[in-house]
Amino acid sequence: MSEKLLETKPLGSSHIEASRSAVHAAASELLGKQESGSSSFEVNLDRRNGNSMGSRKGVTSYWYASAKGLLRRARAPFYRLSGGLRYSQRYYQEQLRTCLAGSKVRSDISDHLGVLFSETVLTRPRLIVELGTRGGESTRALIAAATVCDAKMLSVDIDPAPPLEVPGRERWFFVQSDDVSFGREPDGFESWCAEHELAPEADVIFIDTSHLYQHTRDEIAVWAQRLSPSGVLLFHDTNMQTGLAGRLDGSVAYNGWDNQRGVIRAIEEFLGRNYDEQSFFVDIARGFLVTHRPNCSGFTALRRLAEHAE
Ligand SMILES: C[S@@+](CC[C@H](N)C(=O)[O-])C[C@H]1O[C@@H](n2cnc3c(N)ncnc32)[C@H](O)[C@@H]1O
Repeated sequence: MSEKLLETKPLGSSHIEASRSAVHAAASELLGKQESGSSSFEVNLDRRNGNSMGSRKGVTSYWYASAKGLLRRARAPFYRLSGGLRYSQRYYQEQLRTCLAGSKVRSDISDHLGVLFSETVLTRPRLIVELGTRGGESTRALIAAATVCDAKMLSVDIDPAPPLEVPGRERWFFVQSDDVSFGREPDGFESWCAEHELAPEADVIFIDTSHLYQHTRDEIAVWAQRLSPSGVLLFHDTNMQTGLAGRLDGSVAYNGWDNQRGVIRAIEEFLGRNYDEQSFFVDIARGFLVTHRPNCSGFTALRRLAEHAE
């Protein structure tokens, strides 16, 4: 403790000089290498999304991305000086890298795609279920994990399937349905599993749908019963109460919606716990190892423990 206190004593001139150099080094590094890479990637994304660089929309996106990049670079030294740290996401595993190529660098779930992949691979699944697909960002990470594990993957969404052309696509199945009724009714999940010669249980269940309390309660009630004995329940949007989604790279997305703690409240009720979802935390409750990340609207894993440890 005393060492920590010593580090926070008032700055002398040598410290100020060292800080100036640190700012200078950080600024050069960010101006030169890292950030120029990321802003050009954002511009490339605009092109991939069909915004021709020659069109008015393309030009606007280009300047918007450049202005955002410049602002980020200008802020970086001050952020670092005040003790702030930034962490970007990197994907080294080949399937994951290939499947995520073309998805947004910064989105409402971008911080969690690597974790989604690793939690899934760790489970060694035969069947992965995703509830809530939208444009298929999480789907891509889960298809990559399915490929690594030689598993099947099923997505359920009330809306139609997004077009997805990624390696391992043949492992992916899609059902357009309300997820609670599909999980509950005998002619839903159970008969789907029978058709695909699988036991009626999933090893990984990723829930990312309405984010409403009552709906999440129903999802947990139905889908926890479909979880295999060593399976994991994964949730996105377990920290939405500020309406802001701060990412680990220091950027912030405004999601504009306080869902009244809908998802985390349903989890708390299921586990009989009260949590501070704006912190990182771990817990063991009701036979689950619980790990929570507050960044990027929150990501929570409930991993079933083989032996009931409380
Ligand atoms: C936040 S988006 C999912 C994002 C997706 N996981 C991704 O990473 O891109 C929520 C999705 O849940 C779907 N949804 C909402 N209510 C649903 C319900 N009752 N049953 C099934 N899907 C639902 C919506 O149609 C929407 O596509």
